Order: sequence, then structure tokens, then C-alpha cells
Amino acid sequence: MRQIEADLISTLASFSKAGDLSNLTFLAHSERVAHTAFRLGKILTLGQAELHELVLSALLHDIGIMTDKEQLQLADLEPKANQVSPHCHEGHRLLQPTRTFGPFALNVLEHHDYYSADLRLIPAIIHVADRVDILLDKNRYALSQVEGLLQYFQGQAGHIFSPDVVDALHGLARIPSFWLDLEFGQYHFSDDGENFKRLLNLDELEELAQIMTILVDAKSPFTRHHSQGVTNVAGLLATKLHMPKEKVRMIKIAGMLHDIGKLAIPDEILMYPGPLSKQQRIVMKQHTYHSYHLIKGIGPGAKRLARWAAFHHERLNGTGYPFGLSAQDLELEARLMAVADITESLLETRPYRKGMSKEKVRLILYNNVNAGHIDPDLTDLAVAHLDEIMEIVNRCSGSA
Ligand SMILES: [Fe+2]
Ligand SMILES: [Fe+2]
Ligand SMILES: [Fe+2]
Repeated sequence: MRQIEADLISTLASFSKAGDLSNLTFLAHSERVAHTAFRLGKILTLGQAELHELVLSALLHDIGIMTDKEQLQLADLEPKANQVSPHCHEGHRLLQPTRTFGPFALNVLEHHDYYSADLRLIPAIIHVADRVDILLDKNRYALSQVEGLLQYFQGQAGHIFSPDVVDALHGLARIPSFWLDLEFGQYHFSDDGENFKRLLNLDELEELAQIMTILVDAKSPFTRHHSQGVTNVAGLLATKLHMPKEKVRMIKIAGMLHDIGKLAIPDEILMYPGPLSKQQRIVMKQHTYHSYHLIKGIGPGAKRLARWAAFHHERLNGTGYPFGLSAQDLELEARLMAVADITESLLETRPYRKGMSKEKVRLILYNNVNAGHIDPDLTDLAVAHLDEIMEIVNRCSGSA
């Protein structure tokens, strides 16, 4: 299992949705930008390799957005430099060290740069595609806005935007189906949907999952090491079960992604300093629903991964969420993730409380077993290795 049946574009398209989901104004923003960028790139006669780079960079362009406030500032048509620069730099910082996405880091860094003679074409295209999406009023027919849109870009050609890209936009403006596709969610990132298809290998998936882990943990100030911790605890339990190496690796990837749906939860809830109200809890609990669909969106080969990752709040007796599954629906790997998730949460030190003692953790884990929530054998396994797990959790939070 060195690769999975999915391609890089569908994976990025799915993951890029995560951040866009937390704010309705930005729903599918990254996909829409990639859709427009691809068409502009075609008119500008980019070759296949460049088009591929363009689409992947466009899907990743806003990956460095860390707060909802920052995202909202980008809804200004001409945001100030200090409003745009943090997410460009953060995106660059996240991507640059990775093998798969490093080559796109510079495009992400420069995607809001004003036009200059030496600005590279790919970020210049993404800039225009991005502003097209911001400018389009989603409550009005797209085609009725094209004229006004062109006037704006024409007025800024050679100043904010590349004149060549603005010319290409004029070309696109003549094709109604382009705007209708954009308006009605028929996004295309290639001519026939086949051009760029290739299997995603585990290294790529792992690198991307790592980036998502960093994002989720960074957005959760009270559980800042949780995704990383769960990843390592799940990996340890899988190893103790003598699962094959590749399987352990997949379980760790599932751990990295298990809370990816938290990116779809508004900051005011994710970062709320104190116990959540009933209403806030209802919203927070939606995160695993999003985790499931975002991971499944990677492609047909990711269904198992989605189940292993996103069922961690399901309970054997059917009282969990969001699907209300029960024992017969929960395979070993999903049960393992639930035990890893609870154990890590209890041991983890948070700003408002220290990690719990081994005795207390053991007690709570077995209370959960007795209540019919989690798997007794896996709980025994975790309890038998509690010292090792504690060490892992402390290492992740840097407190040991
Ligand atoms: Fe941006
Ligand atoms: Fe954007
Ligand atoms: Fe969770």
C-alpha cells in the first residue's frame, strides 16, 4: 500500500475546503480560484507542467490563513499589505520544507504581490483569479457582473495586476459557460479531468497530513499538541498490536487528520477561553462530520482512512457522534483511534490544567469501558503501556 487511489488535485481540493468551510463567504474559495486560474493559464498558453503547478498552487494559495479575522480582511477588494502578508508568509513557511509542495511555496508567497515587470506569471494569475472570486457577488447572477468586473481589472492593469493576465481575463469574459461553471459549482482543473490524474503516494499524503496537523493544532490554542499527540499514541498502539509497517503508517496519517474538521469550526468557538456553552458544543461536535467528508474527498482509496480518522467520537453502544454508529460498524482501527484520542486528551497538559495522573487516567478509561463507550481490549493495551504513552504525550507538548 505505497500509494492510494486518489490524485493530488482531488486531495488538495478536498483539504482546501476545510478552511473555506468556516466562513460562508469563502465557501469553496480555493477551488473557485483554481478553476479560474486554470482557464486563464490556458488562454496564456501555459504548458501542461505549468498548468499543473498553477492549479496546485491555486488550491494551496490561502493555506497560511490562521484566523477567521485574517480571512475576512482578505474579502476587502484591495487589502493592505499588512493584512495580506501574514498568510502569504505562513503558507510559504508551511510548504517550503516539504518535498512535494516546496516547489509551490514561492507562488503562494507572491500571490498578492502587485504587478511589476519581474513578477512571475503563476502568482500573477492566481492574484487575478483570487480577486475575481472576491469581486463576484454570490447573490447575483455572475454573467450580469462580468462587465463591471472587467472595468475594475482594466483600471488596475499594469498597477495591481499583470496586463497580460487582464488581457486573458477579457478572453475568458467572452465565454459564458466559464462564468456559469463558476457560479454553479462545476469546477474544472483540467481539460477532461484526466490530464493530471496520478496516484497519490504515501509520502505526499503524509506531508500534506502533517501540514494539516500543524494547522489544526495552531488553531486550537488549548489543545496545541493534540493532533500530533494522538498521531503518536495511535502509532504506538498499532505497533503494539504488531500491525504491519504500512498499516501503522496509515493509522498515523489517520491520527494526523482525525480533527481536520476543526478547521471548519469558527475561531470564536475553537478559541473560546473556557467551558463551551450548549450551543457552542453543538457546533464543535460537527468537526468529525467534516473530518469524515474532507478525508473521503481525497478519493476512492481514502474511505478506510476516513473511517479510521473520523469515527473517534463514535461509541460502541451507539451514543457517539456524528453518525450514531455502534460496535458492529466500528472496526479495530477506528476503535483504536477513539482510545488514543481519549487517552491523549486526559494526559495532555492544557493552559488551564495539568495532564492527569496515571491513576486518574486509568480510572476514567475504565469508566468509559464500563459505560460501553470504548473497546476493553484496546483500553487494556493502552493502560499496559501508559508510561510509554505519557512519555510520548509529554514529548509532543515539549514539557518533558
Ligand atoms: Fe490570499
Ligand atoms: Fe484567496
Ligand atoms: Fe475530535
